[in-house]
Amino acid sequence: MIYFALAKGRLADESAELLRKCGVDTSVLREDTRKLVLTSADGKYGFFLVKPTDVPTYVEAGVADVGIAGKDTLMEQDKDLYEMLDLRLGECRLCLAGYPDRKDALTNPHLRVATKYVNTAKKVFSERGEDVEIIHLNGSIELAPVTGLADVIFDIVQTGSTLKANGLAVLEDVFDHITARLVVNKVSLKTKAAEILPLIGKLREVVS
Ligand code: PRP
Repeated sequence: MIYFALAKGRLADESAELLRKCGVDTSVLREDTRKLVLTSADGKYGFFLVKPTDVPTYVEAGVADVGIAGKDTLMEQDKDLYEMLDLRLGECRLCLAGYPDRKDALTNPHLRVATKYVNTAKKVFSERGEDVEIIHLNGSIELAPVTGLADVIFDIVQTGSTLKANGLAVLEDVFDHITARLVVNKVSLKTKAAEILPLIGKLREVVS
């Protein structure tokens, strides 16, 4: 049996559809239920439905053999697992954003940056030799410049509609091609190779 850690939320439907195309019986994922552990009708797959940022934790621990996680989350957490495949789902960018008429905000020597991605932001600014104040938030990041909590945000931008709705714009693209990735537990890849490798092969075929 292969155990998957799958993210609830915006990647859920696309992930399930991709797995279905690879021959995984995902019909159980369409059920309207609050259950967090589901088993495919054929008994071959177990699904743990977790918060997107928790996918790497379940896979690193080996509770799940395989997971689908965003590249943004993987960069931020740097977990001990194998990132096997770019699934090309949910493409977005990691950007610095703020008020469009304050582009010079980024040159402020006392820049305050609000983000969910504290480790990644620290790395980006330290590589630039810039000492900025990082403010950790868990969501609604766009609110930070609007309320004056921060000067700019470092966040994912997909459609750009959240920025726009809040009068903000991208000031700088930092990382392009942030997509969902297939991650695999290091031990599972050995012990369940006979099940996992064909699945990876099929996914590679479908994705390309
Ligand atoms: C993410 C991100 C932005 C938004 C970008 O938030 O933090 O707020 O999506 O998407 P867009 O460019 O398509 O508008 P999410 O929806 O995950 O909610 P959160 O604020 O709870 O983190």
